[in-house]
Amino acid sequence: MADPTISESSAVSAVLRRSFRKLFPAAIRGEGVHVWDSEGKRYLDFSGSAAVNFVGHGVAEISAAMAEQATKLEFVHSSQFTTPVAEKYAEELLEFAGENFRGGSVYFTSGGSESVETALKLARQYQVEIGRARRYRIVSRQQSYHGSTLGALAVSGNKRRREIYLPMVREFEHVGFPYCYRCAYDCKDGCQNCGQQYAEELERAIKATNGEAAAFIFEPVSGATLGGVLPPPGYLRAVAEICLRNGVLLIVDEVMSGMGRTGRNFAVEHWGVAPDILVAAKGLSSGYAPLGAVIASKKVRDAIAAGSGSFIHGFTFNAHPISMAAGRAVLHLIQSRKLVQAADSGQPGSVGEQLRLELDSLRNLPSIGDVRGIGLLWGVEFVADKRSKQPFPPELNFAARVAQAALDRGLLVYPVQGCVDGTSGDHLLIAPPAVVTAEQIAWSVDQLRSAVQESASQ
Ligand SMILES: Cc1ncc(COP(=O)(O)O)c(C=O)c1O
Repeated sequence: MADPTISESSAVSAVLRRSFRKLFPAAIRGEGVHVWDSEGKRYLDFSGSAAVNFVGHGVAEISAAMAEQATKLEFVHSSQFTTPVAEKYAEELLEFAGENFRGGSVYFTSGGSESVETALKLARQYQVEIGRARRYRIVSRQQSYHGSTLGALAVSGNKRRREIYLPMVREFEHVGFPYCYRCAYDCKDGCQNCGQQYAEELERAIKATNGEAAAFIFEPVSGATLGGVLPPPGYLRAVAEICLRNGVLLIVDEVMSGMGRTGRNFAVEHWGVAPDILVAAKGLSSGYAPLGAVIASKKVRDAIAAGSGSFIHGFTFNAHPISMAAGRAVLHLIQSRKLVQAADSGQPGSVGEQLRLELDSLRNLPSIGDVRGIGLLWGVEFVADKRSKQPFPPELNFAARVAQAALDRGLLVYPVQGCVDGTSGDHLLIAPPAVVTAEQIAWSVDQLRSAVQESASQ
């Protein structure tokens, strides 16, 4: 039954919600690709919340695994104990991450931002352990997002999320983000050859640190900030080679793109890149528990193991047993149900392919400038004028309007602003769970089309 107190105005809620202005429905149940609110309304989760849910909502075997662990042992502190569930899960995750991480180690956290913080500190400590104590700077990219804690914000390039906190963060070098639809090099060949130029920006930034660069962090496929933007040919390999040549660690942030969402276990596999440190969260637990992971290669692990012998870092809830149980159960489900293959948009007959084809059909709408992405991670960018690629005025909040119109139709999408210059530019992130069916995709894209048309005609 509806509880009238729950979806009351945010202004009177005891919860400090994301917005005091917005009315939030109260979610009470989830099953498969659907979520229900307290009024009984059903929503199709076409964005996996925020690219979180990959295995579907309400999977009983995951909650059973969590309950079993909670009944046996809910928590111990990682300074005093390890647990069988953490040990097994770390082994399985290393195996899932592939050959590049053989002999490596996993550090577990409670989410993406904590994992990014951990990766930055791990990179710094690695440099100190191998005798390069001058190296502490982390190079990253403009128009990127790596998390909301101050360290993660320092390396993020998302203007809106950083702006007021800038006096509190340490500023490092940010290089250009290849964004094909609005390429800074004004390519006329669909960005077939600009990858090298973007990579050279990184090399110049590393040189400018005068031997103080510890690591470079990047999202292989843009998540929220640009929405599904893919790297141009040759770019990631060039970047990896530059980092190796300059003694700079390569940290890949796969918080959104990892755990199968792009149709590979991790997105870097599409481009044959071998990072030193890999960061995962979101899909790692599919949202069943707060969970993140930092997967360190053998090189990084060995530097600490053979050096000082301890990683100077820690969170109370590091490797929390219930989160470990959730993560393990999710991983087993991803494998047993072949969800990575389902997400592969290059695989004929997969739901990944179906999503690609359906979203492609939106391109002919006058207010849609670009549709890009891979697997089950896509961005739909809106424009006021298709020929000039002129964005809508930011105050129109076009993406949020479309998202609201979609919500009214029972469809959840993730609206973002700022893709053009950090302030203007509107897009949606589309990232459904891999258990979505072809019919559900077709229905969702129909609803989205109507939501876009309705918003454009207002
Ligand atoms: C690429 C990327 N890195 C890091 C984060 C931060 O993760 P969390 O919100 O779990 O702290 C996010 C969140 O959206 C993300 O998309």
